[in-house]
Amino acid sequence: MYQTPRPLGPPPNYTARRAVAATGAVLVLYLFFRIVSSFTGDDGGEERLSAETTTSTSTTVVALETPPACEYLDEQSIFADEADWARTIVDTAYALPEAYEPPDLVSASGAGYSAEFRVRSLVIDDLDALRNAIIAADVPEVALLAAYRTIEDQEALFALREDELGFADAAKGTARAGHSEHHLGTTVDFRPIGATDVDQSFGDTATGQWLEDHSWEYGFVISYPEGQEAVTCYKYEPWHYRYVGRELAADIQASGLTLREYLWHWEVTGTPPGASTSAVTSSTVAGAADESDTGDTAG
Ligand code: DAL
Ligand code: ZN
Repeated sequence: MYQTPRPLGPPPNYTARRAVAATGAVLVLYLFFRIVSSFTGDDGGEERLSAETTTSTSTTVVALETPPACEYLDEQSIFADEADWARTIVDTAYALPEAYEPPDLVSASGAGYSAEFRVRSLVIDDLDALRNAIIAADVPEVALLAAYRTIEDQEALFALREDELGFADAAKGTARAGHSEHHLGTTVDFRPIGATDVDQSFGDTATGQWLEDHSWEYGFVISYPEGQEAVTCYKYEPWHYRYVGRELAADIQASGLTLREYLWHWEVTGTPPGASTSAVTSSTVAGAADESDTGDTAG
């Protein structure tokens, strides 16, 4: 059969033509999808760059600040306002101001003890609860040997002890004027009923033991426990209890620290022992996110 002769010249490049046609088709399809996605909001899975922020929180327990070595100074207690009675440090170095006067002293008779002793009214309910708990525990009841003392009372007491023992020994068992927790009106000394004085053997009695184990439940802490002379600055006094309120007493008991150590750390760091500080850190990095990711936080 007759065939139309091919024109003269180089043969047509079909491969190139197919490539041009295919590219055109792809471009048309691409434009079509771009137009459709501009109406639907769907970008067809196309990704865009976005900032990705990671936030993390780290917690650090504040290192324990230990109180200074025992010295006989006359610094004024920092929390020396009568309202700060629970956290006022009164030790061999820090003293209450001369004008310090608890505003609400009442007779200890409200707690079932002799009317000759006075304490702040805020102590009464728990002192009474403690007395009833001693009775309920079926251990021998105790009387008071001391409660609130004025700075003048303490001055006379220290002078007496100093005459007997000399300064060094007197100061291990009796505070100088202004330096006694008895000025706070929240501190009591117990004694066995019928005894006119008390000594360290009280710590071995059933009531002495019970007080060391349970007084915190009623808001009282032993200020000068056994074996802690180096940090409390006083000899063991199993009869001397300071009221700090039930919540603080429970925290002190749980900390295992003496009252002076606990209060010192709190005073210096502004946080009770065992408290932690939190630091929030954020880092932002460039990353990919689809449009549904707001980029606020991640993982
Ligand atoms: N016996 C304690 C230290 C005082 O005199 O307050
Ligand atoms: Zn005392």
